[in-house]
Amino acid sequence: MNEKQLAAEKSIEFIKNGMIIGLGTGSTVYFLVNKLAELINNGLSVKCVSTSVQTTKLANSLSIEIFDFNELDYIDLTIDGADEVDSNLNGIKGGGGALLFEKIVASNSKQIIWIVDASKVVKTLGKFPLPVEIVPYGYKSLFKKFTDFGYKPILRKKDNGVYLTDSENYIIDLHLEEIQNSIELEMKIKMLPGVVEVGLFNNIADVVIIGKGESTQIIKRK
Ligand code: 5RP
Repeated sequence: MNEKQLAAEKSIEFIKNGMIIGLGTGSTVYFLVNKLAELINNGLSVKCVSTSVQTTKLANSLSIEIFDFNELDYIDLTIDGADEVDSNLNGIKGGGGALLFEKIVASNSKQIIWIVDASKVVKTLGKFPLPVEIVPYGYKSLFKKFTDFGYKPILRKKDNGVYLTDSENYIIDLHLEEIQNSIELEMKIKMLPGVVEVGLFNNIADVVIIGKGESTQIIKRK
């Protein structure tokens, strides 16, 4: 089993009958959704909310019903991947472009677990380009601001066009290399008109499950 699958399958132990579950997005969550489908087939009863079109399609293909978040008052547990995580359990997310819905779902969840392979654990955040979701209107002015701040922005592209999120926004990836104060940076970027969401997830994860070699390591927020 690879490290992503190990972490994903370990996270299943946190799921209890009757829970409302938030499903993240990405290649690690892929293993979670597959295992969850197996358990639902064997009688587990949960309600699921999705953070992306990609996860909804995967879940539906495995006969997992996805509920409209507006029909639910809260989420018991969200399990999601991450692109980088530090020892304070702060992280960068949005490599898969789903940061906006992921943050909305996370901020309405009683408990949040991230499932990652060992390569995602870092001392300092920032090597992974920081995704910022922005509205397309006037995006060049934001791009210029990021350039002036020294953030080395790159507009995300796909198939020779501009990448569009599920909300039809753009993503600018900031090549920062090192983030010294992730809370300050999140605030600074979020304040800029045109910014919808920042891929900095500070003080959000409660538990991180790391797939490491042949086993898993669980880190809990202190
Ligand atoms: C998507 C995300 C993903 O959780 C993150 O990119 C990790 O993905 P993967 O599990 O494929 O490495 O934030 O927006």
